[in-house]
Amino acid sequence: MKKIAVLNNKGGVGKSTVSVQLAHGLAKLDFKVLLIDLDGQNDSSLFLGKNENDYKKTFYDLIDRRNPAKIEDCIINAREGLDLLPNKHIEEINAEFHREARIDLYLSEKLKGLENLKYDYILIDCGPQRTKINDAVLCYVDHIVMPVQVEAASVRAIGNIYEYLSDLRLSPDMIALVIPNMFDQRTRDSKENLDFLKEFFSDRDIVTDPIHRRVKITEAGKLGKTVFEYDEEAASQFFKVLERLVKVIA
Ligand SMILES: Nc1ncnc2c1ncn2[C@@H]1O[C@H](COP(=O)(O)OP(=O)(O)OP(=O)(O)O)[C@@H](O)[C@H]1O
Ligand SMILES: [Mg+2]
Repeated sequence: MKKIAVLNNKGGVGKSTVSVQLAHGLAKLDFKVLLIDLDGQNDSSLFLGKNENDYKKTFYDLIDRRNPAKIEDCIINAREGLDLLPNKHIEEINAEFHREARIDLYLSEKLKGLENLKYDYILIDCGPQRTKINDAVLCYVDHIVMPVQVEAASVRAIGNIYEYLSDLRLSPDMIALVIPNMFDQRTRDSKENLDFLKEFFSDRDIVTDPIHRRVKITEAGKLGKTVFEYDEEAASQFFKVLERLVKVIA
């Protein structure tokens, strides 16, 4: 069971989009995948076309102190080979995490039931801020996939992740892939920022080919479809990233 966080402390860079496409792509490659949505806006659930009418129990019920739900009861199927663990009340979840003394062990404990469910990959879509939830996620996972928007402010902020990992006494080697997102091949600015990104990580070969900015990617999300169901061009870009991912953390 490979555990991956999709994380970047910057908002709106494509974490939920990347989580959903990688999760569905891995399922299409015949892996058994669970996507855990820990983004407060439920974006990855919505991008998969799932909303509150589709689930009763969520991650919130799983961590209920008095009457914790069974993990099987909080998971729903989203696509063939792809399950989803949605969330509700993210602020309360974060407050609950604050009460925990051993945040580093907390998720392993709460998600213990996953061992029996035989997933090949667990992907966790994280919210942008530094939160107790994200602290716990980083202590739980083995790898980080980091989408970075190819624009100046995002590219300049990439060092933050190193600081974050260092504060948690975790290794930067956890960063398995950096995915340049929303690349616009028509602008020089985009090319310069992509070059900067490659240069920044030049000592480790972890930057993938870029995912281009495409209206169809935004549309797919709004329609609750993945790129594999909506946009061949974006699908082939994500497949390239997937091949890298599978190799890197084999
Ligand atoms: N390559 C792309 N081309 C076009 N639109 C994109 C692309 N990647 C993401 N988007 C769109 O950009 C918006 C932000 O993406 P997304 O929600 O995945 O970011 P996020 O990092 O998860 O944001 P948050 O920090 O709020 O959780 C969404 O509307 C999404 O559809
Ligand atoms: Mg998100």
